[in-house]
Amino acid sequence: MKKNITILPGDGIGPEVMDQAIKVIEAVNTAFDHDFKLEKALMGAVSIDATGEAITKETLEKCETSDAVLLGAIGDPKYDNNPELKVRPEQGLLKLRKTLELFSNIRPITTYDILKGVSPLKNQLLENVDLVIYRELTGGIYFGEKTKSEDGTRASDLCTYTSHEISRIAYQAFEAASNRRKKLTLVDKANVLETSRLWRKVVQDISEEYPDVEVDYMFVDNAAMQVMLAPSSFDVILTENMFGDIISDLASVITGSLGMLASASVGNKTALFEPIHGSYPQAKGLDIANPMATILSVAMMYEHFKLFEEAELIRNGVNWAIENNIVTQDIAGDAEAQPCSKVGDLITCFLEEQGNIEMKNDSINMSLNTII
Ligand code: IPM
Ligand code: MG
Repeated sequence: MKKNITILPGDGIGPEVMDQAIKVIEAVNTAFDHDFKLEKALMGAVSIDATGEAITKETLEKCETSDAVLLGAIGDPKYDNNPELKVRPEQGLLKLRKTLELFSNIRPITTYDILKGVSPLKNQLLENVDLVIYRELTGGIYFGEKTKSEDGTRASDLCTYTSHEISRIAYQAFEAASNRRKKLTLVDKANVLETSRLWRKVVQDISEEYPDVEVDYMFVDNAAMQVMLAPSSFDVILTENMFGDIISDLASVITGSLGMLASASVGNKTALFEPIHGSYPQAKGLDIANPMATILSVAMMYEHFKLFEEAELIRNGVNWAIENNIVTQDIAGDAEAQPCSKVGDLITCFLEEQGNIEMKNDSINMSLNTII
């Protein structure tokens, strides 16, 4: 298969984790004889530094005309603490989401038996956790009208939704639920917000078309608590933009590390794949960041192209690395932490061998010291 992929390494640890993802794509392409052209472009603080804009028109066009976009991370502390700044790295991502009409952000929360020790939650709470968040990504308070009074003492952000914006992602979430454990939880604040009441109405109407899907309605404050107290009770969570942003970071705690969580953003045009984590500026250039979330986002990209075998092989590579303690410090627990690049190199080896890698602990240790 031939594809053109735009790579946006971004800021902080973005370029380091992206380097591992690129190795993975190259290995999979060789193994399966695909031809994916990878072209890098700037977005975020690196783009502001180079061009004055968080994303340029050229980069937006490049993304629009490619078959998928892969993003590392964006954000730089030098832009965080000055409320007067007009240009910020995050604007690049928001503009890209809007331009590509990426209304649906899919964030699977996966747990790994072997990583139970690194989750701050009690082990018994982690049994059977398998949930996916469908976060609306191009509407709500993120994109509503923003105002600031002349004297700078009053500001507002408008939250609006149309039933069309709600139903298009709701259908995706219902489809996902009917192919999974057939449970959908709408997270909202319908006791206070008019937009949330519209979400409920639209979801109630659609639910009639999915009689086999059990629908739950939960206020976001309660949902924040339940995601920690009973994560296994969720299957598909459907929610609006801001609540989804918050609930997904919270849900990442279950897994034990934000460095494990992948995401796909899909809409009517080119899809985008990115790890949930941020740019982790403190770790920039230290080769310690966890590349697995980005590598798993690559697996989601192959799945999007309906290349399921490739996606599965990548996931097997990540599982194999975890089982053999080929992991970075965030999930290493008592094991010796490996650098980001070594985790990437060894997963790449696994993919080059198409999973036929027979390495016992000793030889893995030896390979960690020698082959790279
Ligand atoms: C995310 C991030 C973004 C968001 C930021 C970087 C704008 O937190 O993808 O979850 O708030 O959507
Ligand atoms: Mg977020």
